[in-house]
Amino acid sequence: MNTRMRRAAVAVAAGAMAVSLAACGSAKESGSGSKESGAAKGDAIKVGLLLPENQTARYEKFDKPLIEKKVADLTGGKGEVIYANAKQDATTQNSQVDTMITNKVNVLIVDAVDSKAIAGAVKRAKDAGIPVVAYDRLAEGPIDAYTSFDNEEVGKVQGKALLEALGEKAKDGQIVMMNGSVTDPNAKLFKSGAHSVLDGKVNVGKEYDTVEWKPENANTNMAGALSALGKDKVIGVYSANDGMAGGIITALKAAGVNPLPPVTGQDAELAGVQRIVAGEQFMSVYKPYAPEATAAAEMAVALAKGEKIDDIINQKVDSPTAKGVPSVLIPVVSLTKANIKDTVVKDGVYKVEEICTDKYAAACATLGLK
Ligand code: BGC
Repeated sequence: MNTRMRRAAVAVAAGAMAVSLAACGSAKESGSGSKESGAAKGDAIKVGLLLPENQTARYEKFDKPLIEKKVADLTGGKGEVIYANAKQDATTQNSQVDTMITNKVNVLIVDAVDSKAIAGAVKRAKDAGIPVVAYDRLAEGPIDAYTSFDNEEVGKVQGKALLEALGEKAKDGQIVMMNGSVTDPNAKLFKSGAHSVLDGKVNVGKEYDTVEWKPENANTNMAGALSALGKDKVIGVYSANDGMAGGIITALKAAGVNPLPPVTGQDAELAGVQRIVAGEQFMSVYKPYAPEATAAAEMAVALAKGEKIDDIINQKVDSPTAKGVPSVLIPVVSLTKANIKDTVVKDGVYKVEEICTDKYAAACATLGLK
């Protein structure tokens, strides 16, 4: 493992139950100087950053500032990040790519709203000599690099946690599955990972693909599931992320479900962590954003300067339209009330004071969070 990969792995290992990085063997040291047409020399580079939405807290709270900081660090403060958020609109995101091309950015980091719809824009960037790093979601088209988590594993971790919460009662009622948006390739992986663990072990009473990942859509779907199945029959909810878990828990409470069934999540959002503390949400998946953002910034800066990225990647990934994309995938950690301290607090994502506001003080004390 080379230095940069080791750094990413160490950052992750800080989490309590870090899994080992899958494929470390293939990377080799490389010199600089390979040519990407139009590549900028020197540190005064322009990095275009396109994120997909702003309802999920991670993007503007973590991804954006972490990438900006890392680009600044890697360029001695000379590199500039130009940012746009598509607010869930794939057409908007396509125009944002075109604007970035007009603005002559030296590299693009794109987290696609719709991995297929972005392919043409990726090609236009590429034709303009602008390398593209797919961020978190595997955009289609001729991308140069990709960084994300092991997304199938995220689904498995969620499914396993739900089974653990249900214990011997796993088949004594129905579960509801609330998957993410069909335009997001990650949502498909979360869903298949979860199914691989849950199928045959639970009864899935209702299952939804949630339009645009929106919490309010999850809320409406959950209310529908409760009326269709009967509020006493729902013994657990698979929610693909924390934002939707919030909408789901609101629907459960509104229907008077008490006690709440176990609900899963993902993203270790502050509100999600607080619901875990309060016993309203069973788990989340902690995906350490710092190593993901670091990998994206390192690859983007190297590509913008026309340097190779072989020494940054830890594996190669195939997309439906590109084979062997140089990639960095980061392991994930299941987050429950048992390991809040050893994960998000230890890694400095949240201070105990941020989690343990007055409303959660008593629950925090019980958990020894101080
Ligand atoms: C990301 C999740 C996020 C979801 C909704 C997925 O692609 O990996 O972290 O919760 O999109 O934005």
